[in-house]
Amino acid sequence: MNPHTLKKINDIFTPSAPIVEPGHFVGREKEMERLLDAIITPGCHIVIFGDRGVGKTSLINVVKNTLDNYGIQKNIVSYTCCDSDSYENIVGSFLLDTNQLYQEDIKEIKKTKTGKTEGSISVIKGKISKATEESTTISPVVKFTVQPHGIATKYFSGNHLFIIDEFDRITSHETRSRFANIIKAASDNKAQTKIIILGVSNNAVELIGHHPSTVRCIKTIHVPRMRKNDIGYILKQGCNLLNISVTDEIIKLTIFASCGLPYFAHLLGAEMAKYSVKKNISHIDLSHFAILLKNALDGVIDIVKETFDDGIYQGENPDYSFGKSRSEESLYRELILLSSALFKRGLLENIADQANILLEEKKHSIPDDIVGKEKDNYVALYRSHDLFQQDIMTLIDGHNGGQCPSFLTINSDGSLEYLDPFIKGYALLRLCQFWGVNNLHKYIKENGLINHWS
Ligand SMILES: Nc1ncnc2c1ncn2[C@@H]1O[C@H](COP(=O)(O)OP(=O)(O)O)[C@@H](O)[C@H]1O
Ligand SMILES: [Mg+2]
Repeated sequence: MNPHTLKKINDIFTPSAPIVEPGHFVGREKEMERLLDAIITPGCHIVIFGDRGVGKTSLINVVKNTLDNYGIQKNIVSYTCCDSDSYENIVGSFLLDTNQLYQEDIKEIKKTKTGKTEGSISVIKGKISKATEESTTISPVVKFTVQPHGIATKYFSGNHLFIIDEFDRITSHETRSRFANIIKAASDNKAQTKIIILGVSNNAVELIGHHPSTVRCIKTIHVPRMRKNDIGYILKQGCNLLNISVTDEIIKLTIFASCGLPYFAHLLGAEMAKYSVKKNISHIDLSHFAILLKNALDGVIDIVKETFDDGIYQGENPDYSFGKSRSEESLYRELILLSSALFKRGLLENIADQANILLEEKKHSIPDDIVGKEKDNYVALYRSHDLFQQDIMTLIDGHNGGQCPSFLTINSDGSLEYLDPFIKGYALLRLCQFWGVNNLHKYIKENGLINHWS
């Protein structure tokens, strides 16, 4: 593919990167307004939370890039956490970036393997800064003597906006709560510097650790699943810019499978665009969608694919089987998991019905070239309604030797529900591939599901 064309596609559909350009950002007017309001409110710090892939980083990026337009002047310091991050790393990075790291505050600076000081820190008259000759990413391994209260009172007087993204990756409860303490002290002290914490979470308290006394000075912003129209708009707008047209069915299917995450609209849009260039066509319909779906599925982030696969094998128990060979059992479990993705509060019975429909469909669609043992395997999948229901119970009921995959939860009415929309979206796309795009489309249309994703 022509590199210019590929670049254009990758600029418009960005499944692997947050939005930076305000022009590419869709919807989220309320969240933007709330965020801007919090940024200009003195003494107010911010926690942004929501599902993975919902658009938290994009929101802060775009707001960051529009502050100027609102006449808001802030020195922005950003930090993205990783699993091993400590309080020292994160605060040390802020102090370095704002040129406020002093030798007297530090007990120790560790050397890197190469013998150089990590992150190329230099010491000039007691003040420690990034060495100018090397623009490395800074991850100073420093030991501090400065505690949260000291940080907030001594180093938070500048007009800085300290953005800490992927805060959920910090596993230490203590580290998280030290940031809550910084915020509290900064607020008590009427510090100019503001902290914005972002992370995957259902609520702000869970993200920063339980700390009711700090909540007063924290404005929380929930980034909810995206509206259906906005998801559709991401796909339509992107395709327009690339001079491709897509059918209404594709837009609806994309909206359905996205589960409210813009991620999937970008992922599918990128594959549609690449397919149209490869095949030299400018219109994409359901039959093309069926083909490009495979690449889209391959492109889903690994952690999601791995979690789903683990869920398929997780409940396999050598002492218990569905009376099938191991590979049949996996396929059977996969079918159960995939069909569960169609319902929010669907009763087991519905799931059983649905899975049976899938199995029936599969029976009719066994390709002619599948013969002998392989065909027997396929046929062996078809089970009676009752047995299927029993199997679902076995899947989710630990006492029977089964195990419910960690990404599913069982409601009190016995229905199964996906906890993470990312995994559910992936399951729906797999279901689409397994069952056939037309079947899934027909099914969601007939059941009025086209307007639902949860
Ligand atoms: N408002 C938006 N408009 C268009 N695309 C978006 C929007 N928000 C997020 N995206 C896209 O969705 C995906 C996930 O966004 P990201 O900001 O990384 O989510 P999070 O930080 O919540 O995990 C990326 O592909 C990004 O380009
Ligand atoms: Mg993010």
